[in-house]
Amino acid sequence: MLLENKVAVIYGAGGPIGAAVARAFAREGASVFLAGRTKAKLDEVADEIRSNGGVADTAAVDALSERAVDEYVDAVVEQAGYVDVSFNLISLGDVQEPLVELSVEDFTRPIATAVRTQFLTTRAAARHMITRGSGVILAFGGNGPQTLPGLGGFKVALDAVEGLRRQWACELGPHGIRVVTLKTGGVPETLPDTFPGRDDIVADIEKAALLNRTATLADVGNVAAFVASDLARTITATEVNISCGAIME
Ligand SMILES: NC(=O)c1ccc[n+]([C@@H]2O[C@H](COP(=O)([O-])OP(=O)(O)OC[C@H]3O[C@@H](n4cnc5c(N)ncnc54)[C@H](OP(=O)(O)O)[C@@H]3O)[C@@H](O)[C@H]2O)c1
Repeated sequence: MLLENKVAVIYGAGGPIGAAVARAFAREGASVFLAGRTKAKLDEVADEIRSNGGVADTAAVDALSERAVDEYVDAVVEQAGYVDVSFNLISLGDVQEPLVELSVEDFTRPIATAVRTQFLTTRAAARHMITRGSGVILAFGGNGPQTLPGLGGFKVALDAVEGLRRQWACELGPHGIRVVTLKTGGVPETLPDTFPGRDDIVADIEKAALLNRTATLADVGNVAAFVASDLARTITATEVNISCGAIME
């Protein structure tokens, strides 16, 4: 197993991507600590993991609260002894509409949310990881010139997180801590059937992919497990492109 004896904290684990990552990490032997706003959603994921023989714990944590995040990570370390992996997958409160129609609040919310929560959750984990001289911080999204009309502040938020990822990678690398983003071209399974314009969005994601397929939730979990594992010990300060070729580098 790739993550035997590892301890991973996953924020937003009640959402489809966080849950997929939690399942994959647990399958690979990690003890997973699932954080989010709604505990019932986290418990559902944790119950499934435990019924498959995995180790999972849940807590309601506001990943935008400095105190809540610091206390949570301290409690995880108190319970598990250490933390190896931190992956923040909370939603950003983005409103995806053309910029000319957007209020400044709706524009800035995802940017402020993404930067604040990624800073807080990384800092809380890093303070413990530094004492052990190892750890992995993961982010999801990715940056670059590719974008689409009508995304509001969403893509700007992902780009901002990449600026932060570079800064963290630079400062944490000397402590043996890797910082990596999974760069996505979109995961159709995360879009509910009732999502407005779903079919067109999925068609666009599929059309852009070079491989005639798109990333599944299982794919996201598998790549995240590999990147979090010691097999990926050379990988830091970069993105790992899981777009099936949709995003050309
Ligand atoms: N799906 C894609 O293709 C794609 C592409 C690029 C980027 N992303 C980004 O990847 C992330 C995960 O996607 P997803 O579809 O799994 O997300 P999601 O279902 O929209 O949200 C994930 C979870 O975040 C939790 N959350 C929100 N605010 C929080 C807070 N302040 N503290 C703690 N937890 C909080 C929510 O908990 P509650 O339900 O309890 O509110 C929710 O369960 C999102 O940021 C998304 O924008 C996704």
